[in-house]
Amino acid sequence: MDASVLLALRDPAGVPFYPVVFQALYVLTWALHAAFVLLALGSMGLSIVGTFKQKNDPNWKILTPHLIQTGKISISILIVLGVAPLLFTQVIYDPNWYVANTLSGMWVFIFIYTLVVGYSMYYWYYYANRKNAGGGKLIGIISFLILVCAGVLMHNFAVTSIMPNDWMSMYAPNGVVDNSGWTFNVDVIRLAFMVSLAIPVVGIFLQNYSRFLSTRKDFSPTFVEYTASLGTNIGVVGLLISALAFVVWMMQIGYLMNPLSLAIIVGVVVLLLMVFRNTNSYVTTIVLVVVALLISGMRELIRFDIMSGLGYNIYDYPMNLEIPTISMFLLTFLILGGVGVAYLLTMAWKVGKNEGIFDGSKDVAVTRLGNYTLSIMVVWMVIYFAWGMTILFMNIL
Ligand code: HEM
Repeated sequence: MDASVLLALRDPAGVPFYPVVFQALYVLTWALHAAFVLLALGSMGLSIVGTFKQKNDPNWKILTPHLIQTGKISISILIVLGVAPLLFTQVIYDPNWYVANTLSGMWVFIFIYTLVVGYSMYYWYYYANRKNAGGGKLIGIISFLILVCAGVLMHNFAVTSIMPNDWMSMYAPNGVVDNSGWTFNVDVIRLAFMVSLAIPVVGIFLQNYSRFLSTRKDFSPTFVEYTASLGTNIGVVGLLISALAFVVWMMQIGYLMNPLSLAIIVGVVVLLLMVFRNTNSYVTTIVLVVVALLISGMRELIRFDIMSGLGYNIYDYPMNLEIPTISMFLLTFLILGGVGVAYLLTMAWKVGKNEGIFDGSKDVAVTRLGNYTLSIMVVWMVIYFAWGMTILFMNIL
């Protein structure tokens, strides 16, 4: 692929801020997206196992609906969090993203419907299981498979986007233009590694779940103990599978001895020891977050190397510095996002720790954070619309 073609596909308006910032935000937000993808797939998959055991096993009777609920919430979060890396990738790697979306146009349409159907069926599964313990097995399995397909499609877009050398032969195989939009590429090892991470993630989640519930008197010590050891077993087996898949993937692409790859391997070994001992799963989760960021960095390094090898270096992207835009974005992200998320997390934590009904209006921290969130949101909306209108009228009047 000739670099001039890639460079011509860039946005002529340039980027509004230093490309490295968008790159860092991409790595951060993709790791967040992946965290909830893995938690969703892991808890969903395990909940299906639970539906087969739930009728006769008292532990699974409690655990299964909780896993279904976890999967349900995680899907909505993963969708929201998927938007952020999408925006950052199309700012600095727009040639890649748009070419992949054009070549695989039909799959992009299918992706949306896959998500809608898969998630709607998940609600069916949730209600069926709520009505009748052990119910909704088949619907749950179908929904799970559909959502895994959504991940495979996402993988196709990611892989196609980093194959610029093959774009021409995908667009016009044997010189005949194919504009059907059915281009589909899978890198089996890479995909297997990504999806396998759902196993250790749900294992560590179960350790956290057990630790979190251990302070509550309405959950028996037997149940707390059972979920902790289930988490340890799943976590250890899952980490071994993921580590193996990761090493094979790195060997396949010749990155095994890369410092980032070695750091990930060390991180996984540390995680393995921590999960095995299960001294404090909250600390294990912090290490997991670091490893997730490293994995996200690895994906970006692979793409960066491929593209800079072809003469497309994101750091050379023309820049049209726009301080107001970036300030608005960062303030929204940090202040509105930070306070809003703190409010939701504080409330969720307190609801979970509380036995019986939790009344947020009687809790000082929750009330204060709720009021801050509302006030910041109102101020944000006023600034957003006033600013937008001002610019609009200045341009047209
Ligand atoms: C159940 C639904 C979904 C699943 C299972 C899923 C899974 C995945 C997986 C496995 C990858 C990594 C692919 C790879 O690197 O090989 C990925 C990447 C990504 N996903 Fe998702 N995803 C889902 C929904 C979404 C949604 C709804 C969005 C956007 C709103 C989104 C945005 C992204 C982006 C931007 C990337 C990175 C693409 C790139 O680097 O080129 N995902 N997703």
